[in-house]
Amino acid sequence: MKFTVLYGTESGNAELISEDLAEALREQHDDVEVADLQDTDPMSFDPDRFYLIVCSTHGEGDLPLSAAPFAEAFDAVQPDLSGVRYAMFGLGDTFYEETYSQGSEHIDRRLAAQGAERIGEYGRHDASSWTIGSDAALEWLPRVLEAAAAPV
Ligand SMILES: Cc1cc2nc3c(=O)[nH]c(=O)nc-3n(C[C@H](O)[C@H](O)[C@H](O)COP(=O)(O)O)c2cc1C
Repeated sequence: MKFTVLYGTESGNAELISEDLAEALREQHDDVEVADLQDTDPMSFDPDRFYLIVCSTHGEGDLPLSAAPFAEAFDAVQPDLSGVRYAMFGLGDTFYEETYSQGSEHIDRRLAAQGAERIGEYGRHDASSWTIGSDAALEWLPRVLEAAAAPV
């Protein structure tokens, strides 16, 4: 399988986690790319790749800075994402209560609305927990890979 890890971040956590996910994937797979959502063309999604998206939450349940231009460009072009498969890992902090982890959901809703299919469990990391974000993501990864490899 070919992988692209995309991140939306404001203070770097999602980028760090994405690099760690990519490093783990590269142990088994040759073609693993990592990119910031702000450098990602919404028309570039490829059904031959599997996407892992790591996105934090800022403001009041809003997208982080690096994901905002992507969302804007996405809404302008509304790409056809049929056949595109992805997994989502949201970062947030339960301190913010009802807006917890909602940043990634803005991306999730957009991808689903254009026909992409989310695979496996929706991963989350709570900055108020005692868990390190990369540890939580690396624990989530094998379950997602299993779901991605399962016959449809
Ligand atoms: C100013 C600010 C606002 C935040 N707002 C929210 C929020 O509304 N909901 C939430 O779940 N987390 C919120 N967070 C927590 C971040 O999502 C969390 O710390 C995350 O790990 C940051 O990841 P990043 O460094 O990739 O941006 C906020 C953090 C900051 C600094």
